[in-house]
Amino acid sequence: MAKGTGITKAVAVGIGVVTVSSVCGLVLMVVMFQIQIDEKRPLVPPTPSKPPVLPTDLPTNLRLHDYLLPESYKVVLQPYLYSAITNNYTNQSFFFSGNSTVRLKCMKDSKTILLHVHNLNVKNVEVRKSGSDEKLASRYTIHNNESNFLVINLEGQLSGNGTYYDIFTNFEGELFEDLSGFYVNRYTEKSKDEDEEDEERNRFLATSLLQPTDARRVFPCFDEPALKAVFDITIIHRPGITALSNGMGDSGSIEIDGEEWVVTTFTPTPIMSTYLLAFTLADFTYKSIPTGTNMHIYARKEAIVAGHADYAVEITHKILIHYEKEFGLKYPLDKLDQIALPDLSVGAMENWGFISYQESGLLYDEVTGSTFDKEWVATLIAHELAHQWFGNLVTMRWWNDLWLNEAFATYMSYIGVEAAGWDLKDLIVLREIQSAFQVDSLNSSHPLSLYENDIQTSSEIIELFDDVTYSKGAAVLRMLSAFMTDQAFMKGLKTYLYNFQYNNTVYNDLLECLQGETNLDLEGFMSTWIEQVGYPVITINTQTGDTSQEQFLLKPGVGHDIPWQVQITYIKSDDSGLKKDLLKVKGPVRRPHFQLIDSDKWVLANINCTGFYRVNYDEENWNKLLMQLEKDHHMIPVINRGQLIDDAFNLARGHRLNVSIALSLTKFLVNDTEYIPWESALKNLDHFVLMFDRSEVYGAITKYLRKQVRGLYEHFEEYTNNATIPKDYTDQNNQVNAISVACTYGLPECISMATSLFMDHKNDSNIFSIPSEIHPNLRRAIYCSAIAAGDEDDWEFVWEEYQRTTVAAEKDKLRYALSCTKEIWLLNRYLEYTLDPSKIRKMDMVSTINYIAKNVAGQPLAWDFVRGKWSYITQEYGAGIISLGSLLDGVTKRFSRDVELEELKQFQREQDKEDQGFAARALEQVIERTEANIIWVNENKQNVKDWFNGEL
Ligand SMILES: *[C@@H]1O[C@H](CO)[C@@H](O)[C@H](O)[C@H]1NC(C)=O
Ligand SMILES: *[C@@H]1O[C@H](CO)[C@@H](O)[C@H](O)[C@H]1NC(C)=O
Ligand SMILES: *[C@@H]1O[C@H](CO)[C@@H](O)[C@H](O)[C@H]1NC(C)=O
Ligand SMILES: *[C@@H]1O[C@H](CO)[C@@H](O)[C@H](O)[C@H]1NC(C)=O
Ligand SMILES: *[C@@H]1O[C@H](CO)[C@@H](O)[C@H](O)[C@H]1NC(C)=O
Ligand SMILES: [Zn+2]
Repeated sequence: MAKGTGITKAVAVGIGVVTVSSVCGLVLMVVMFQIQIDEKRPLVPPTPSKPPVLPTDLPTNLRLHDYLLPESYKVVLQPYLYSAITNNYTNQSFFFSGNSTVRLKCMKDSKTILLHVHNLNVKNVEVRKSGSDEKLASRYTIHNNESNFLVINLEGQLSGNGTYYDIFTNFEGELFEDLSGFYVNRYTEKSKDEDEEDEERNRFLATSLLQPTDARRVFPCFDEPALKAVFDITIIHRPGITALSNGMGDSGSIEIDGEEWVVTTFTPTPIMSTYLLAFTLADFTYKSIPTGTNMHIYARKEAIVAGHADYAVEITHKILIHYEKEFGLKYPLDKLDQIALPDLSVGAMENWGFISYQESGLLYDEVTGSTFDKEWVATLIAHELAHQWFGNLVTMRWWNDLWLNEAFATYMSYIGVEAAGWDLKDLIVLREIQSAFQVDSLNSSHPLSLYENDIQTSSEIIELFDDVTYSKGAAVLRMLSAFMTDQAFMKGLKTYLYNFQYNNTVYNDLLECLQGETNLDLEGFMSTWIEQVGYPVITINTQTGDTSQEQFLLKPGVGHDIPWQVQITYIKSDDSGLKKDLLKVKGPVRRPHFQLIDSDKWVLANINCTGFYRVNYDEENWNKLLMQLEKDHHMIPVINRGQLIDDAFNLARGHRLNVSIALSLTKFLVNDTEYIPWESALKNLDHFVLMFDRSEVYGAITKYLRKQVRGLYEHFEEYTNNATIPKDYTDQNNQVNAISVACTYGLPECISMATSLFMDHKNDSNIFSIPSEIHPNLRRAIYCSAIAAGDEDDWEFVWEEYQRTTVAAEKDKLRYALSCTKEIWLLNRYLEYTLDPSKIRKMDMVSTINYIAKNVAGQPLAWDFVRGKWSYITQEYGAGIISLGSLLDGVTKRFSRDVELEELKQFQREQDKEDQGFAARALEQVIERTEANIIWVNENKQNVKDWFNGEL
């Protein structure tokens, strides 16, 4: 699965969600809707409850028996959905029925069989010895608590000598609109009617998102990743709609009760995990990938016709071939479909052979798309394709090792995109490593790999889809690769994939395969990074040579003190080349090579940030590095120019460095036009801005940033004024930084440039819609500035464009720009829109509210809004994997006052009372962050103010 949702990539600091569980037997089902077009579905009030205590004959954890091994399933699903309603009186139906027969091998005598089922009306269960017609007498019960167990009690018993049994179930379910399990999407399709007039039609599709634990919402199954089996799927559906799944489909018509239906049967899958299954019923079209066999990109007709799938068509096979070479194994399936869905709560999902994406993750429009949109498509495809091996072919044994899936997909995506012509290798430091440093510096972080028993419920599993799993995982793999050399690492991975294909692993299996390629002690090295939470700060004292390590925490004083094994790479200003030093103890230990007393030499450690640690120095060395940067910054590698800034700012936040040193590290930026140092500085200054933009310090900050950014703005001005972009990708990123910083902090030329480009565009569009002259790369920044400086009329103009366009990536830019207004009433109205799915799609609710909260004018509004509507939000948006944790994270980023902390704690108490546990870990994290912020602001406000005033 891809991290975060779509364009925002906004750090999901922990995604906490529990599916509202329904107690007391079964709820639902069989709801046939007499739908009126545009009518909203009624709301069911939430039914929070304490989970009942499990009966004692069941496992004490929430896991299935390990001696019943499913081998194959035959599943028939029959959704009654129509893809369109032709008149107001057709019965649209969000309902499906089905049956399933699972064959399992029994390895221990037993009287009970456990399967998973959730929110299904199970009508019948039959158990037979395979090959026999005789039913074994049994009763079944359903535990509608967190276990989701379907418990079958037999009168006799199953023989545990390897005998096969068939379990037949017959069931009904509802297709909700909650973006999880098997669910419905609505969208509108523009087409020409008989008189060639544009017509908008409401359309429906059914699709699925089953990771991590929602296969059980489609059919009763052994819903654990290690219980792999072959799946033989049949879908019976309405004519005029295509059924897609993991295998290749073959369709024929039949008549049932006088109605015409289509039966699509799919080729059986290889043995695979349940969470990777996928089903879609949609009236979509596709474009084939000419270089591959049986490879298609599916999307809305309008998007395919407009050529928006062409870029995915161009790069998919290239990336796939690249992986086949790197991984030493062919793509395991004989088909690969990718589909762009109007509603998907994650960026993408790697279902085996049938990958699903948000539209902005797969479709790219040459006309309105920015290079960033294009790169996002390449990056997501590279991530999901990597999963076809890492995750799908070789799967973690249990969710506690989820990082084996996600860290590899994240890390490999940087290698995969190369095949599509993108060089993003260095950007891994900004995107993964620096984000991972952030979450992993909190006490509420978690180790990469946890104990199996610590992860049991669906919400515990979902919480693991966070920056630690994805980004720290990728950072640690990058470190390991550098430690043992990239060649040995890739060679060991080939062995790993080969040995464990169609199988499951724990992380030691990985280490064993890698160990075969090196004499270094990998187990000793890696266990310190995988099993313990957090990461170290290495302190090098160049006066004494003393070197030590300690856990880095934003709120110091409570860390653990087991040392990490740290490969310290370093250079010195005498240009004697790269050196290495392995630190295994806490220290301090004396390292003569770090002692630079009485010399003007400096030392710089963690070259290119290949190690997952921060570095602190004595003040002398910091000052020498500062001087070097101001004199000739090229002497410091570009990644380290960024990392020095990130380390210094965070060390200052963690009370380990004087804040004036961190701030001084932004001075050389007047002469540096590289993206990595600028982006590192802006991310960190962002924190200063959040802490101080409601106080008197803000004036000085604004002036300083205006001064610093002027050079960068001018560097790109020729491009910007002609609405063009530089050639290099990182320059393109930095051009956008130049504009958004310059406009935000009030550089007059920027604001007038933005306003006039926007007005030209608006006036043109009012006459008749022509493509805008604003380059797509710049649109987000320019629209935002123009809306911030503009009035209601401008806002309405962008809102109308937002509603008109059908290109998801363009919609995202407009949706962001709308959050930039300073008008309180517009922001409040916009907040109300976020909970109306006909205005803001469900999947965009979190990021839209977070955009508004980022605006200083929107901050208190967004928090009040979220607090006030919390029970509605959790009820309507809380199912599945939608990131309510990142919503809490977003609306409280600025919190640094006692009263705000008190509000959070009050909110937490209310949560405990209702015993919902929604986003519980995220709430702990933001409370911890707020406490740290309060202390930090109190200590540093005066220093910060003095420093900025001194620079004016
Ligand atoms: C369907 O309902 C809409 C709105 O209620 C109405 O405008 C339209 O005329 C109706 N169409 C038919 C075919 O009855
Ligand atoms: C499952 O359902 C399909 C469609 O209703 C039916 O044809 C089939 O016989 C059922 N399978 C079993 C084993 O009853
Ligand atoms: C397993 O045991 C049952 C009786 O308990 C016997 O009928 C059956 O043949 C045995 N199967 C195998 C594979 O040994
Ligand atoms: C999976 O790997 C284990 C060893 O870890 C091995 O015993 C087992 O046979 C493998 N299973 C398959 C299906 O290859
Ligand atoms: C550091 O990264 C730069 C840019 O990617 C690269 O050119 C350089 O070789 C790297 N240095 C080391 C020591 O790996
Ligand atoms: Zn993923």
